[in-house]
Amino acid sequence: MNKHFDAVADGLAEHGYAVVDQFLSQHEVEAMLLSDEIKDYDRFKKAGIGNSQSVQIQEGIRGDYIQWLDKGSASQSIKVYLDKLEALMRFMNETLFLSLKDFEVHVARYPVSTFYKRHLDQFRQDDHRKLSVIVYLNTDWKEEDGGQLRIYLPEGSKDVYPLAGRLVCFRSDLLEHEVLPATRERLSITGWMLDRLAELKHL
Ligand code: OGA
Ligand code: MN
Repeated sequence: MNKHFDAVADGLAEHGYAVVDQFLSQHEVEAMLLSDEIKDYDRFKKAGIGNSQSVQIQEGIRGDYIQWLDKGSASQSIKVYLDKLEALMRFMNETLFLSLKDFEVHVARYPVSTFYKRHLDQFRQDDHRKLSVIVYLNTDWKEEDGGQLRIYLPEGSKDVYPLAGRLVCFRSDLLEHEVLPATRERLSITGWMLDRLAELKHL
């Protein structure tokens, strides 16, 4: 069995979140960093707040740039990760008795000093996001670089550094979190597992 998948399921069941290191190998991360999706800055657009019906740009809330990924046309190295997400989703359905049907994924690029204030991932008008799944692509990230994901738990907050290959998963409806500013550009791929088919994004 896949020990990384087990660790995600155990973390979710026991704590409501999971942090799993080396979910992607250094080699897999390096291959992704060479993909057109990551290298081509023109593909990114300023992230907004809200769902597809009402997107607003609010610099004081989030400063990242995003690019939605399409399973059909993704580069091979990205597809390796999307296939793992698909397998993880099936595993979650079997082990945690969920009924996840699809996922939506974007790459997020946080320029130096940008952040995403404390929030929940589930939209108020739309509760189809069930699990948030983030993987980080930042090689040689140091604590002094900042950029922590701060998660808010009943027992207090916990900081997770965006280390290459690390995967974080949590309940989209429950766990408030924020992204702190960094002294380096910060790259991640954020996905949401949904209880229905994903809408088409404007790619
Ligand atoms: C998000 C988010 C966290 C991170 O995209 O909604 O909270 O660590 N990302 O990148
Ligand atoms: Mn979030």
